[in-house]
Amino acid sequence: MKSTPSKFGKTPHQPSLWTRADALKVHADDPTTTQPLVSANFPVLSDEFFIWDTMPLRDIDGNITSVDGWSVIFTLTADRHPNDPQYLDQNGNYDVIRDWNDRHGRAKMYYWFSRTGKDWKLGGRVMAEGVSPTVREWAGTPILLNEQGEVDLYYTAVTPGATIVKVRGRVVTTEHGVSLVGFEKVKPLFEADGKMYQTEAQNAFWGFRDPWPFRDPKDGKLYMLFEGNVAGERGSHKVGKAEVGDVPPGYEDVGNSRFQTACVGIAVARDEDGDDWEMLPPLLTAVGVNDQTERPHFVFQDGKYYLFTISHTFTYADGVTGPDGVYGFVADSLFGPYVPLNGSGLVLGNPSSQPFQTYSHCVMPNGLVTSFIDSVPTDDTGTQIRIGGTEAPTVGIKIKGQQTFVVAEYDYGYIPPMLDVTLK
Ligand code: FRU
Repeated sequence: MKSTPSKFGKTPHQPSLWTRADALKVHADDPTTTQPLVSANFPVLSDEFFIWDTMPLRDIDGNITSVDGWSVIFTLTADRHPNDPQYLDQNGNYDVIRDWNDRHGRAKMYYWFSRTGKDWKLGGRVMAEGVSPTVREWAGTPILLNEQGEVDLYYTAVTPGATIVKVRGRVVTTEHGVSLVGFEKVKPLFEADGKMYQTEAQNAFWGFRDPWPFRDPKDGKLYMLFEGNVAGERGSHKVGKAEVGDVPPGYEDVGNSRFQTACVGIAVARDEDGDDWEMLPPLLTAVGVNDQTERPHFVFQDGKYYLFTISHTFTYADGVTGPDGVYGFVADSLFGPYVPLNGSGLVLGNPSSQPFQTYSHCVMPNGLVTSFIDSVPTDDTGTQIRIGGTEAPTVGIKIKGQQTFVVAEYDYGYIPPMLDVTLK
């Protein structure tokens, strides 16, 4: 990839590579990297709404933060249509699978609050209809800015296009609950540039989304991670020696893997408020390995940078595979080089008996991993499924050097605060 000159001087880094050789080390069903089975008897957060990607309120350093004792989460949300003729099958039954699969097209940002870090109560929509400039409100990150309760919500405005945007509002608490006020003016920040990050014109299946702003604990500057694909026309990417890595004899054939071009993007803020951003070359690329590295995020621990990102079985390239789940990489400095955790990158995957049980994992700095329930088989053959659209049981992992271990399981949607802010 060509690097562009940066206003910050010389381009600071070369992207780290998740190679095909790394991915060959991915093994589903290793108990230390597999999410415990989710029972088909799960409770649902709401009969009215599907929820999926969950975004806990946090500070700019990544700490999950409650306000006046109230925990707050944001979720991608879509209404369920059990009575809509459009979602009835030939026998007049509600086709919940089709309704669920269509949800991305009508995703809206909602919020929930809780005194206990679980048993979430619905707050409502974050932005009124018409505020967001596009149809879909896709994932991002809510940041609590100060003791006045101001919140910057970074998210992705999708269809038409895909723009990383932010909107500012405020969290207000009473004894009885939480409300969000403001969130009325959406500010576009940036879009894919076609030089470092692939555009829609280069690939109709491009990904550019899921902003995760943070302050680098070492240099103190404001940065943002996001999901992207490596720039270039679809099909033009090269899967060379570097992308293949050190494979055993017989594993040199890369098939059609040039179509899989995921990367974890990074941008740096030019100002204190995070209103003006400059994209930098990706931190990590997965050309020839996987087409999606979604919702990238960090845990800063033991002076190291633990980079996590979610990915799917169906987005893997020819000749490599792995479960739906969260993958991780570690480096001693922000710009790498990053090494896959556990050798392969796999941190927490679905068991092969329930390959779609959960997704959109978010690893929090306390080692707790939240995700949502997608679908769980209800019979032994796996042909009958129950759709989730609700919070999965939280999993505890231990992060140790270049390894991670599943060590605990908690209640559905358990997202306890790491610190509490008393509003002034
Ligand atoms: C992950 C994800 C995000 C995107 C959203 C769309 O589950 O694909 O990358 O923002 O869902 O619904």
